[in-house]
Amino acid sequence: MITGIKGMNDILPTEMEAWHFLENQVREVFHSFGFKEIRVPALEKTELFCRSIGDDTDIVEKEMYTFLDKSGHSLTLRPEGTASVMRSYIEHKLYAQNQVERLYYVGPMFRYERPQKGRYRQFHQIGAEIIGENSPLADVQLLNMLCRYFERIGITDATLQLNSLGCPDCRPGYRQTLIDFISSRLDGLCTDCRRRYQHNPLRVLDCKVEECRRACQDAPSVLDHLCADCSGHFATVRRLLTELAIPFEVNNRMVRGLDYYTRTTFEMVSGRLGAQNAVAAGGRYDGLVASLGGPAVSGIGFAIGMERLILMLDESTLPVSRPDLFLVTLGEKALDRGFSLLSRMQREGLHAEMDFSGKSLKAQMRRADKLQARVVLILGEDELTRNQIQIRDMDRGSQDTIDLDQLFPILGERLSDI
Ligand code: HAM
Repeated sequence: MITGIKGMNDILPTEMEAWHFLENQVREVFHSFGFKEIRVPALEKTELFCRSIGDDTDIVEKEMYTFLDKSGHSLTLRPEGTASVMRSYIEHKLYAQNQVERLYYVGPMFRYERPQKGRYRQFHQIGAEIIGENSPLADVQLLNMLCRYFERIGITDATLQLNSLGCPDCRPGYRQTLIDFISSRLDGLCTDCRRRYQHNPLRVLDCKVEECRRACQDAPSVLDHLCADCSGHFATVRRLLTELAIPFEVNNRMVRGLDYYTRTTFEMVSGRLGAQNAVAAGGRYDGLVASLGGPAVSGIGFAIGMERLILMLDESTLPVSRPDLFLVTLGEKALDRGFSLLSRMQREGLHAEMDFSGKSLKAQMRRADKLQARVVLILGEDELTRNQIQIRDMDRGSQDTIDLDQLFPILGERLSDI
């Protein structure tokens, strides 16, 4: 038996209801905020991710699926969507069409991480990006959209954590202060942190190792080192969130695992998810487009982990897909006639099913029950000779015999009031 790859899951037909629900709702909610869908390839040149996500990050250091193609080019399966969307934005000069672009995407991402609950090697993200808008209103609009989407799909127990990471004016000063602080505590740090604190001191704040957490307990806060502009931007974001009644917590320890962030960063976390508690995350990346060779425009976005969303979904809120009709036939002639009735029902847009293999009445009724068909039609030899059909409403428990000529008008009436 050839099995699938570790950490890469099949999404089976029984699970599809939830996926369709999430995807349908995302389109409705995001469109109402003026976002348009973009689809970018799953493969990109490796350099794109090194330059945008950052060489010193876990993603680029150890988690990318990178290989040489037959021409010797280094390619990478995208570990996230932002870099690819920015590449496309620059390549197709989308900035020349609209000063502000609001884009979203849905699709698989790939990271070579250790699989566990909520963490996979192929996973799916719903991402959204606002490019070309510097105003804190964009930050709040994006967070509002995220919250409205969660509300729409019935997720109420995620907490918004908010931080600001400053800008190229104030970050270097904070960075140096943090390096000085960490240098004085090196003995208490794990090997990873000791190795990379000079290049990426902020990651030390985010290290999950208990000793590192303890050593950094009283590390200087980034929020005390913001310049006046960043501080003002962050204050406006918090004020507007409060005005929109969007609850949030400020977490000055939150550091994102990607290097492109500036100013506002955030995560939606939930206690229900266990160790992998972030169901969505994002932030501003005001220098990213320029660093990839595009114009100096700002950007902000988020990505939601769909597998984690599904872990949080209340199954009872999902719409159930039931056949409108199940057609039971008895005998060969009824099977033929039933098949042409079935085809007509499907042409009319009804969800109709039947059994083709001539099973017993009992077996066919069992199948109709299992599928939770709303209406069961029974066509036997007797009914055929009388040009009639039995119609059983499974929800009401009623059963009538009607003329076959009346079938479609009656179905139209019965199924329209469901
Ligand atoms: P990220 O924090 O790396 O950000 O990922 C966003 C979300 O994707 C996470 O909060 C989590 O729900 C989900 N996720 C990440 N890795 C895995 C995994 N291995 N298995 C399952 N789910 C996972 C980004 O990717 C940024 N591109 C977000 C962004 C957009 N920032 C600005 N714009």
